[in-house]
Amino acid sequence: MTMSDEAIELTVNGVLHRVQAAPDMTLLSFLRDTLGLTGPKNGCGEGHCGTCTVIVNGKAQRSCLLRLNRLRGAQVETIEGLSTPSTLHALQYAFLEQGAVQCGFCTPGMIMAAKALLDSDPDPDDAAIRVALAHNLCRCTGYVKIVAAVRRAAELIRHGQAQVPRERAEALVAGGVGKSAARLDGIERVTGALRYTADLNRPGQLYGRVLRSRYPHAEVLSIDTSEARRAPGVVAVFTASDVPGRKHFGELIADQPVLAVDRVRYVGDAVAVVYAETEAQAAAALDLIRVEYRELPVVDGPEAALAPGAPKVHEKGNLLKDVHIRKGDVAAGFAEADIIVEGTYRTPFIEHAYMEPEACLAEPDGEGGVVVYEGSQGPWPIHEQIVASLALPPEKVRVVHMPVGGAFGGKEDVTLQILAALGAWRLGRPVKMVMGRRESIRVSTKRHAETVHFRTGAKRDGRLTAMEVTIHADTGAYASLGPSVIFRSASFACGPYEVPNVKVDAYLAYTNNVPCGAMRGFGNPQVTFACELQMDELARRLGMDPFALRELNALRPGSVTATGEVLTASVGALPTLQAVRAALARVELPAPRPGKRIGVGVAASFKNVGLGGGLKDEAEARLQLQADGTLLVRTGCSDLGGGAETAMAQLASEVTGVPLRAVRVHTGDTRLDPRGGMTTASRETFITGNAVVAAARAWRERVLEEAAEALGPDAPVDGVGQPGPALDLREGRIVAVADGRELLSLRELAARLAEQGRTVEAHGRYAADSTRAYKDVPAGPYDPAEHRLHVAYCFGTQAAVVEVDEATGQVDVLRVIAAHDAGTIINPQAVEGQIEGGVMMGLGYALSEAFVMREGQIVTDTLRKLGVPTIERLPEITAIPVEDPHPEGPLGAKGMGELPA
Ligand code: FES
Ligand code: FES
Repeated sequence: MTMSDEAIELTVNGVLHRVQAAPDMTLLSFLRDTLGLTGPKNGCGEGHCGTCTVIVNGKAQRSCLLRLNRLRGAQVETIEGLSTPSTLHALQYAFLEQGAVQCGFCTPGMIMAAKALLDSDPDPDDAAIRVALAHNLCRCTGYVKIVAAVRRAAELIRHGQAQVPRERAEALVAGGVGKSAARLDGIERVTGALRYTADLNRPGQLYGRVLRSRYPHAEVLSIDTSEARRAPGVVAVFTASDVPGRKHFGELIADQPVLAVDRVRYVGDAVAVVYAETEAQAAAALDLIRVEYRELPVVDGPEAALAPGAPKVHEKGNLLKDVHIRKGDVAAGFAEADIIVEGTYRTPFIEHAYMEPEACLAEPDGEGGVVVYEGSQGPWPIHEQIVASLALPPEKVRVVHMPVGGAFGGKEDVTLQILAALGAWRLGRPVKMVMGRRESIRVSTKRHAETVHFRTGAKRDGRLTAMEVTIHADTGAYASLGPSVIFRSASFACGPYEVPNVKVDAYLAYTNNVPCGAMRGFGNPQVTFACELQMDELARRLGMDPFALRELNALRPGSVTATGEVLTASVGALPTLQAVRAALARVELPAPRPGKRIGVGVAASFKNVGLGGGLKDEAEARLQLQADGTLLVRTGCSDLGGGAETAMAQLASEVTGVPLRAVRVHTGDTRLDPRGGMTTASRETFITGNAVVAAARAWRERVLEEAAEALGPDAPVDGVGQPGPALDLREGRIVAVADGRELLSLRELAARLAEQGRTVEAHGRYAADSTRAYKDVPAGPYDPAEHRLHVAYCFGTQAAVVEVDEATGQVDVLRVIAAHDAGTIINPQAVEGQIEGGVMMGLGYALSEAFVMREGQIVTDTLRKLGVPTIERLPEITAIPVEDPHPEGPLGAKGMGELPA
């Protein structure tokens, strides 16, 4: 026995373990794979994210970096050790109370890093908190509420409340619309108990690993899997010929091969898949697959792709989509301008960098079908694509939506789902597939890189007369959501301003880069950057205040957008500009330090709510009284971490009169829940929310009818002898309207109905069917109804105070003021969290992030190289919700997941 094979002893959460440690076993692997703990997460496996953080001998450590055989006698604490059945640790409670939890994937690691700090420093200042959490990335929250939570926990501990009763945490889940309720499943998130897809395991499961292309562009001449198939533990190796149905997938255009057919077009293309008894065996077998390639010239940018004679990425040519927006007479608009500014602006690709890498578990259902557990943005579109590739009847495939550890648009596309389902269905065993971080970066879609050429004309008083915009965008090797993204870039290019004459031409090209798809903002951030720089240049040349120029031209009720839509209500451009201007006026700018200058900038934007453009955009909801008197809300929406499920529960609670703590939400099981589309286009609050409100109204009515019937002669009657209006449902109790007397609880009603084999159910559906496909806007009269592109828009304005180093140009953002109009605010704390998280993501986009490719090969292949902002970059963020209720929104809400980014 070598030293490395010797058994070692270590203590985890107070329990002594004796382990035979393999030399390469990490502490993270031991905690997750041997002990079955799910709190420590694997977000990267190489020390860059902090999701695996635990405390070892009193210090916060990234457990993925520690070899187990070096931990002889160590004392290890994980998140599972912090709570008891009746209490939560003060940090866990404070994270819930302060709204510091969104997707929750970073949360256990973040809390453990914070605990190590508080164990040694009971009263840390913000600087100390930032240092302690510097190795822990959070992509959702923008860190603001995390800092607040750590401060709050320190205060609780100093006041002798290191453990907080669970009931106190449960009581945070309270309040209807307008209340900062904690998320429904928050306790599971802060205790590490919530199961994400990679936390699932099944007895006898196989592990799938994918061989990816070596080249960005090549013909595949042959694939020899014979040696790999004979390798230890390997059960099967599949190539394209093993895919029984459609060989390609794609939500809009099925142009991406499930497994390479005869050609690879980017370095993430799947060539073959191995299924083996262990993950290590599956990985080892990849090296034994022999692929013969013939390299082809690499197309590495849209201009090159669209040049005459360019090598074709796809047979049909490299132009995937062109969009042309026309309003008025742009030549006349420039002719009447007193001033014209012009510029070219380039934005990079960026990676979503959600903390949870892609994962999938599929298993046979015992009846010839397959069940697929996955955490995408839309189980139904994923279901359709699995069905097509496996050539199975739809009812033979069931997709079960799992909690999502962040997505931001990057989990709309199929990644592992078809391959896991294929393995489980063909081999008759469960198959688990989990991407490592580098594979996730290599494969997953990115935000489109765009080059935007802009000309803007204005009168001397600042009034805009014309905008002319040309956009070239790189969609990479496959379409993904690119055609829709480029349409958004084109249709939002002119910003939240009324421009009488508009000409926009946008071109989206295939290249051999990593495919680009949806990302928070969906084509909007690129053009907002360009448009706002034009507005600043215009203000400078006109000698105008940048706020005044924007306010003069801002869209307002009655304005006509660049696509010809007449805005009628809930137009927050001006209110958000005014809110930021007022807040900024109250800020005392710091004096510049030697060699530095202080700068202030402002930018405004707007963004569609819902798919629009005449596309089918609908959702359903089902409400059901449960035997215990609680209310179950079933919807099709996927909560990506932003709190959509809690928002749906708050809407249901508000309308029905059932307290929030008695509302449960179930989403995204294609067999059990109503159909829903993608969680995309900031649509969930508006579209699914409207379906929930419709169902809730119907359900409430039925409850009152059933209650009247159950009460029989005891039911109070109104003036005309009708029992219904004399009853009300308040706080989960049926009461008499006249005197508020409680007559029946929902639990009692449920029990009485159950005796008859009945319950109270209601169904709601909402379809945003008034939108139209884009048409050119004539200079003369036209019918505005035919130009209603979107059902609603959200608006936002953000100002930044920055410090610039005169010598290096280094920019440090000191403060951001962000005002956003989301209609009625359902949950103020959640909206603040979206703003803060979006600001931080935007800050990364502007200053530190880029996904870099050279000749089709990835340069930034780790989280660290991508430049995702850490807590050390956190500026002071002031989030200002501006409420301008939308008449068609659910209780006036619009939603706003995207705009702050
Ligand atoms: S998983 Fe350990 S730092 Fe990312
Ligand atoms: S809540 Fe931090 S990564 Fe999602």
